Amino acid sequence: MPDVLKLGFTSFTRLRGVLVTFCSENLKFGPATKKALLPAEQAVRRAAAADRFTGKNGSTLDMVAPQGLDVPRLVVIGTGKESDLKSRDMVKLGGVSMGKVPAAAAEATIFAEFGPGALKPDQVADLALGVRLRAYSFNRYKTKRKEGEERADKVEINVACANPAATEKAWGRAAAIADGVVMARDLINEPANVLYPGEFARRASGLAKVGVGVEVLDVAAMRKLGMGALLGVGQGSAHDSRLVVMRWNGGKRGADPVAFLGKGVCFDTGGISIKPAQGMEDMKGDMAGAACVVGLMHALAARKAKVNAVGAIGLVENMPDGKAQRPGDIVKTMSGQTIEIINTDAEGRLVLADVLHYVNKRFKPKFMINLATLTGAIIVALGQEYAGLFANNDKLVERLTNAGEATGERVWRMPLGPEYDKLIDSKFADMKNTGGRWAGSITAAQLLQRFVDKTPWAHLDIAGTALGSPQTDINRSWSSGWGVRLLDRLVADHYER
Ligand code: BES
Ligand code: MN
Ligand code: ZN
Repeated sequence: MPDVLKLGFTSFTRLRGVLVTFCSENLKFGPATKKALLPAEQAVRRAAAADRFTGKNGSTLDMVAPQGLDVPRLVVIGTGKESDLKSRDMVKLGGVSMGKVPAAAAEATIFAEFGPGALKPDQVADLALGVRLRAYSFNRYKTKRKEGEERADKVEINVACANPAATEKAWGRAAAIADGVVMARDLINEPANVLYPGEFARRASGLAKVGVGVEVLDVAAMRKLGMGALLGVGQGSAHDSRLVVMRWNGGKRGADPVAFLGKGVCFDTGGISIKPAQGMEDMKGDMAGAACVVGLMHALAARKAKVNAVGAIGLVENMPDGKAQRPGDIVKTMSGQTIEIINTDAEGRLVLADVLHYVNKRFKPKFMINLATLTGAIIVALGQEYAGLFANNDKLVERLTNAGEATGERVWRMPLGPEYDKLIDSKFADMKNTGGRWAGSITAAQLLQRFVDKTPWAHLDIAGTALGSPQTDINRSWSSGWGVRLLDRLVADHYER
C-alpha cells in the first residue's frame, strides 16, 4: 500500500491510471460509467461471463489492459442491490476500491457512481474516507523494502463524481474524521520507547494547530490535586506521568460540554504483578483509549463541530521497579475514596478513577464517555467485533448503539449492578482494584462507576477492538483507530447546536 496518498475529486470525463468502477446486480452500470466503458463493452461482458461476475455485493472483476480502453487495468466492483447501502457500506466500498489498486500503481481513478442513481456528495465523501483508511500504513521504522516489492512512492487517487465542487465540501468533514483516525492509529502503533507520557502529551499539544486548547498537568500538579490512584500506577516508571486536558469550544457560549476520557497506559508490563512475556509487546497499545480521544478532538475541531467538548487523558507507564507500587498498598484518590491494590496489573481503572472525578468536578459535563483497553475478559466475552459498553444512562446507550450501527464501530451493552459492586468491597479500604476471576470486565466497570456520581456516563472497554485488529477492507494496520468515527457520529447526530 502506498505511503503517500494524494486524493482529489474530478468529473467523470477524467480517465487516468487504474480505473475502478461499480455495478449493481445483473451488470447494471450508471450512465457515466456506461459511457466511459462503452469502447470496452464487449470485453467487459465477455470477461464478466467468463468469471461468472454479476455484480453481487463484495464481488469484483479485475481486467488487465482491457481491449478498447486506454487504461492499464479496469476493476469492476459489485454493489449488489444498491438501495440498502448505509454510510458504513460506502466507507467499506471505498476500502475495497483502494484494495484493488495495485501497490505499484501511481495513479487511479475511482468512478463514484452506482447503478442508476447518482451518489450524493456525502456518500462520495464516505467512499473517499474508506479509500484513505485503506491506504494507511505504518512504516516509519522500515528502512528497507523487500526485494521485488515494487511500490509507488506516491499514489494519486481521483474520485470521479457528479458534483466535484459540492463533494469537495463534504470531503472537508470526512477528511477531518479520516485525519483523526490516522492520528489515533499512528499513536497506537508507535512503540513505547518513543511514545512515553511526556512525548504523548507533546503530540497531543499539537492539536493547538486546529484550535484546541491544550493543558498539560505534570506530577506536581496532580499531586496537589490528590490524584493518588493515577500517580501510584506511574510511580515505578522512569517516565513521569501526565494528565492532558483538551478543549474545543464550537458550541453555544457557556453551554455544558460533552466529555471524552481515555486510558493512556503507554506501556503496561503489569507492574509488580508482572505479565507473562508472551505477547507483552502488544501492551504498547494500552493507550488506545487516549489515542482515540486525541483523534476525536482533532476531528471535532478540524470540521468545526458546533459543540463544546472536553477531552482528558491520563498518561502513565506501568513498570516494576524499586519505587513501584505493591499489592496490598492503599492509595487515596482525588475523590477521597481509598483503593486497596490487589493486583498492580489492574491499573487502567486506577488511572481513570482520578480522571473521571477530575473532569466531573471541574467541567460538570453533559455526559462522560471513557474509552479504555481495560480488560482481557472483554475479549473473551465479545472478541474483536463489538466493544463492551457499560453505562448508567439508557439514552446514551441507545445513541451509542445507533452510532455504532451507522459507522460499523459497534458496541454491546453489558450489565452493571449492586451485586457485582459488592465484589470489589475491601477489608482494608473503601474498595479493592480487582474482584476475582469472574465477571472481570464488569467489576472493572463497577470501580469506574464509583467515580462518576449521577452524571450520565458510558464506559467502552476496547481491549478487543482497538489493537491486534483483524485485516479488514478499511484497515490493514495493527491498530484500527477504533472509536473516532463512532464518537464523532454520536456528536454529529445529537450534540451539535
Ligand atoms: N491492559 C490490560 C488489558 C488488556 C489485555 C488490553 C489484552 C488489551 C489486550 C489491563 O491493564 C489488564 O492487565 N487487565 C487485567 C486485569 C486483571 C489483573 C484483573 C486482565 O484483563 O487480565
Ligand atoms: Mn494491566
Ligand atoms: Zn492495562
